[in-house]
Amino acid sequence: MARADHDLTKALRGSGKTCESARHQSRRLGFASALVLSLAIGSPALAAPPAERQAELIHRLKHDCGSCHGMTLKGGLGPSLLPQALAGKPNDALVEVILYGLPGTPMPPWNFEIREDEADWLVERMKEGL
Ligand code: HEC
Repeated sequence: MARADHDLTKALRGSGKTCESARHQSRRLGFASALVLSLAIGSPALAAPPAERQAELIHRLKHDCGSCHGMTLKGGLGPSLLPQALAGKPNDALVEVILYGLPGTPMPPWNFEIREDEADWLVERMKEGL
């Protein structure tokens, strides 16, 4: 019994340190999650538009974009926007084309209507296949 008490005291005495490092660790964790959160907010890839806007964007993709790229996006006046066609093309470059168009070609800029995070979301959808 006495031995158990002794162990307990030792454990309690030791716990000051454990506590301290636990607190330190949780502070670090707090920092890490704040960082993750700010990255999530700052990174367009992670922020999907609200559901209603997603429906609008997909509608636009099929109709407006589809008028040149084909209703099923398999190509027409504009090239195919199907996953096989876009695979390997960097998202950033595709987002740029959607926002600013390709001057000297029929591909118009859409930045008056589509925001950067939305274009990024559309690129993800196109790469996945609708
Ligand atoms: C008026 C016709 C037209 C419309 C409307 C149009 N595009 Fe295009 N788009 C083109 C053409 C043509 C090209 C190819 C230009 C070139 O490289 O010669 C192109 C290229 C692209 C590319 C680059 C493809 C690649 O493989 O590099 C993307 C991405 C794209 N369009 C997305 C869209 C999206 C998204 C929309 C709708 C928001 C849209 N386009 C609407 C004509 C159009």
